[in-house]
Amino acid sequence: MQFDGKTVVVTGAAGGIGGNYVRAFAAAGANVVAADVPAAAEAGVALAEKATAAGGGPVVFVAGDVTSDADWAVLVARARDEFGGIDALVNNAAIYQGLTAKRPLTDLSTDDWDTVLRVNVRGTWQGIRAVAPVMRAGGGGRIVTISSTTARTGVPGFAHYVASKAAVEGLTRVAARELGADGITVNAVAPGLVSDEASRALNSDAYLAAAAGGRALGREMLPDDLVGAVLFLTSDAGGFVTGQTLVVDGGGVFT
Ligand SMILES: NC(=O)c1ccc[n+]([C@@H]2O[C@H](COP(=O)([O-])OP(=O)(O)OC[C@H]3O[C@@H](n4cnc5c(N)ncnc54)[C@H](O)[C@@H]3O)[C@@H](O)[C@H]2O)c1
Repeated sequence: MQFDGKTVVVTGAAGGIGGNYVRAFAAAGANVVAADVPAAAEAGVALAEKATAAGGGPVVFVAGDVTSDADWAVLVARARDEFGGIDALVNNAAIYQGLTAKRPLTDLSTDDWDTVLRVNVRGTWQGIRAVAPVMRAGGGGRIVTISSTTARTGVPGFAHYVASKAAVEGLTRVAARELGADGITVNAVAPGLVSDEASRALNSDAYLAAAAGGRALGREMLPDDLVGAVLFLTSDAGGFVTGQTLVVDGGGVFT
């Protein structure tokens, strides 16, 4: 899948998984706008420099919070000025690593709930709302949201996170219907438990091994396992797929 001349925005780019999307899009020739919170700017700039130096398309880092309309306006303006528009958005940012511990729903505070829903759901909607007019003006586009298999398994200890990811899937379907006439596809990717730093902080090795054992493919999942699905859904080849959730978990959960 080639993305020469296309401009792709990836949020949460400095996280455990986001950088893999950035590197893959750049290697496939895309202009990449890699976005993350200002606190992640150092890692984000380093990622952008390294990915650009590796060849393929250029990568720029833009600091911003997905829950800020002003930050989205800056990002969209930068993409327009530097690359002429936006062809694809991967709404990858979420509060995941920041969850720090699994807790029963009876122990969650209202603030815990609001913080997760605000970033994971509202931030995803704000991103779609910010890029849709630019994509419309450019004749179409591709949007990928990121869910989680926990929305299906209802894994205990994550009520706010699980609810947020189920909401992302609903939002994805509405957005697909509302934006389809403009040539914009909107799909969700639902990863299984990825053996990255964030997951290791939240789960024991035994838990990760049990997840691996429950998969048809019988191994731990790595961030790179997600890249093919995300690239497909943002490519020309994925152009007639919309409103869907693609589970990528090595055959752990069947839908
Ligand atoms: N790691 C897993 O096992 C797993 C499984 C299923 C789904 N996911 C999803 O995959 C995506 C990436 O997960 P990850 O493992 O890389 O998590 P992560 O916590 O390592 O990365 C998330 C990134 O989002 C950024 N972010 C958080 N709040 C933000 C905000 N308000 N504005 C902008 N950026 C913000 C963080 O700074 C971080 O760089 C998330 O949507 C997550 O829910 C992860």
